[in-house]
Amino acid sequence: MINVGVIGAGTMGSTHAYAYAQLPNARVVGVADIDVEKARRVVAQSGGTAWATAEEAIDNPQVDVVDVCVPTFLHRRYVEQALAAGKHVYCEKPLARTLADGWAMVQAAEKAGRQLGVGHVVRFFSNYRQAREMVREGKLGQIGIIRTSRGGGGFPYAWQDWYANFEWSGGMILDLLIHDFDWLRWTLGEVERVFARSTHGRDFNREEYALVTLRFANGAMAHVEGTWLQAGGFTTSFEICGSQGMLSSDAAETRPLVLVTPPSPAAPGVAVPEVPGESPYLVELRAFVDALDAGQPVPVNGREGYEALKIALAALRSVETGLPVNPAELEAEAGLAGKGE
Ligand SMILES: NC(=O)c1ccc[n+]([C@@H]2O[C@H](COP(=O)([O-])OP(=O)(O)OC[C@H]3O[C@@H](n4cnc5c(N)ncnc54)[C@H](O)[C@@H]3O)[C@@H](O)[C@H]2O)c1
Repeated sequence: MINVGVIGAGTMGSTHAYAYAQLPNARVVGVADIDVEKARRVVAQSGGTAWATAEEAIDNPQVDVVDVCVPTFLHRRYVEQALAAGKHVYCEKPLARTLADGWAMVQAAEKAGRQLGVGHVVRFFSNYRQAREMVREGKLGQIGIIRTSRGGGGFPYAWQDWYANFEWSGGMILDLLIHDFDWLRWTLGEVERVFARSTHGRDFNREEYALVTLRFANGAMAHVEGTWLQAGGFTTSFEICGSQGMLSSDAAETRPLVLVTPPSPAAPGVAVPEVPGESPYLVELRAFVDALDAGQPVPVNGREGYEALKIALAALRSVETGLPVNPAELEAEAGLAGKGE
């Protein structure tokens, strides 16, 4: 039995707690949130105790795994504290707000000899997983170009409007498009060059739109599109073009009825994709818990979270400078050259 303490009772903390509660080999010991009423509402469904501080989860001797679901800029603090207390950790994506923070977390896990899993949930959507398998099996031949698109549903409202605070969230590229960067890297390998444009910084910032192009070491290219604009609600799609065929998927086609209700301060939350069948969040946490239970390495570890973070931060740099960026340059600048290899 894996005993979990969740930190953060917002959109993701509640999703994770409800998922653990469904697993036969996991138990929610408690949920911590500085707004303890939110934690109480979650444990009413997941079981466990409501705590008012993260430390109550971290220092609890019954807890084997600390699951960190607080806003991104706080990830490092609680991940490091939990690892120092001897816990395994699950951390929502993006791993961290900065490359130096991300690398420090990877090192902390390795030094502590504890596992660090990162919530790159797109790997657990059956269409994305199957598409990757087809690419890896060579069914599409040599891959030339992939297009991905993600977003809609309206700009999220959350704790202290943290998604709108670029220093806290990194904006849409770090928060949302990192999902596609991770899946693309998992599917096609390392990224050598990133070029990005975004509406970030303009007056209508809450409706951010970004387009990122990636060039992979194997020669393939990807166009990664992201938007918070409302039309059609939250949706995702991809198109993979290879020398022997094209594979495509569009989440909008699986939804016969589309209701779009934008988040608001009165009804906070961040739009997450809906898929028929089992929740991919349940699938990802089952994979994490089962690996821990079996004493095996967890599926998406800190190093992989760090690599996705590197691509996202390279895209943010490209938006800032208007120039293409090699992700390795960021590591060299931060004095971390070659760490991710
Ligand atoms: N994998 C996904 O699909 C996905 C989707 C949404 C969000 N996320 C990620 O999950 C993380 C959380 O996002 P969210 O949308 O759940 O945010 P949220 O604002 O809904 O929830 C965050 C919670 O943390 C609490 N909190 C803030 N500071 C705290 C502290 N010091 N100690 C304890 N609790 C504290 C807040 O009260 C709030 O309830 C972010 O890193 C985000 O990028 C991932």
